[in-house]
Amino acid sequence: MRLLVCGGAGFIGSTFVRLRLREYGDEITVLDKLTYAGRRENLHDVLEEIRFVHGAIENPAAVADAIEGCDAVVNFAAETHVDRSISGPDAFIVTNMQGTHVLLEAARERGLRYAQVSTDEVYGSIESGSFTEESPLCPSSPYSATKTGADLLVSSYFHTYGMETVICRGSNNYGPYQYPEKLIPLMILNAVAGDRLPVYGDGRNVRNWLYTEDFGRGISAALVSGTPGEAYNCGGPDECENLHVVERIIELTGADPALIEFVTDRPGHDRRYSLSSEKLRALGWEPRVRFDEGLERTVGWYKDNDWWWEPIRAGDYREYYERHYGRALR
Ligand code: NAD
Ligand code: TYD
Repeated sequence: MRLLVCGGAGFIGSTFVRLRLREYGDEITVLDKLTYAGRRENLHDVLEEIRFVHGAIENPAAVADAIEGCDAVVNFAAETHVDRSISGPDAFIVTNMQGTHVLLEAARERGLRYAQVSTDEVYGSIESGSFTEESPLCPSSPYSATKTGADLLVSSYFHTYGMETVICRGSNNYGPYQYPEKLIPLMILNAVAGDRLPVYGDGRNVRNWLYTEDFGRGISAALVSGTPGEAYNCGGPDECENLHVVERIIELTGADPALIEFVTDRPGHDRRYSLSSEKLRALGWEPRVRFDEGLERTVGWYKDNDWWWEPIRAGDYREYYERHYGRALR
């Protein structure tokens, strides 16, 4: 396929680009604004094999340039961190909603298939059981509300214009190249550096962990074999409380357990996410990587790739960290 991958310089987008090049032989154009989370380094080993357009999805001229010659659009581009959406929601509205609208228009004009990458957070929190694609959408943060708005807009382009759209909703991803504002890379790098490990609230919130390559394969299945107009959940094989994730990272890094620090909870913190993925499994997808194995691989990757994260921890991230956690990194 000739794919336009929006947000392809981010964590999951870059993993998807690598997967599609290596396993499917696609021709790929990446359109990415290169925000703090988007980095050419994430594509270091494939930059020669793709066309890279530096631009924003909310900019129709950049989209028109990037989409030239493509058969399908996959949209990863988003502002993605819940905590940042609480302290400053503006960019979330522009990128996640307005940007999705610009992409939909460009795909509609050209009659292209369109896959929207979405999240389990659109369903909100669930005490027990798992969400199916029929569950009501009930987002709780500005991040998840803007992702939900985008999903509804995507569905409207199927219903109103008959556009070939699919939505793939992933649970919490982890793996190489994830920006260290998110739980797992933050805890790995803090553990390695001897920084405190800030656990929100009581640490008993549960997330449904999905190795990023498994999400890439799930998105591929929805893109290639999904029925237009449908959404597909892509949940990881294991659920785990945050505190247990941190304890496992301490074991894998040999850090001092006394580094754990319980800090003020996130406002509106969702207690538990859980997805049922039967519909995607019916397309032949299944997760390949269990959490224990994936976490070990991920810790190994961060240990071996300080060239990737040292510039982040030495740069603007320090200011973000200090503002958010009220303490400096070592
Ligand atoms: P990320 O923050 O690592 O990457 C986002 C990418 O989008 C970056 O490369 C960034 O530069 C780019 N971008 C941001 N604004 C843009 C704009 N206006 N125009 C063009 N590019 C822009 O995010 P991620 O974790 O890789 O998430 C990718 C997608 O997957 C998002 O849509 C997210 O909602 C979804 N998702 C993420 C998770 C997760 O656990 N990380 C889980 C389920 C779904
Ligand atoms: P995060 O990686 O931000 O993903 P999401 O909010 O999309 O689930 O957070 C995962 C869980 O870890 C969530 O319950 C919040 C918690 N958390 C902490 O306890 N400490 C932290 O420093 C961060 C970033 C997250």
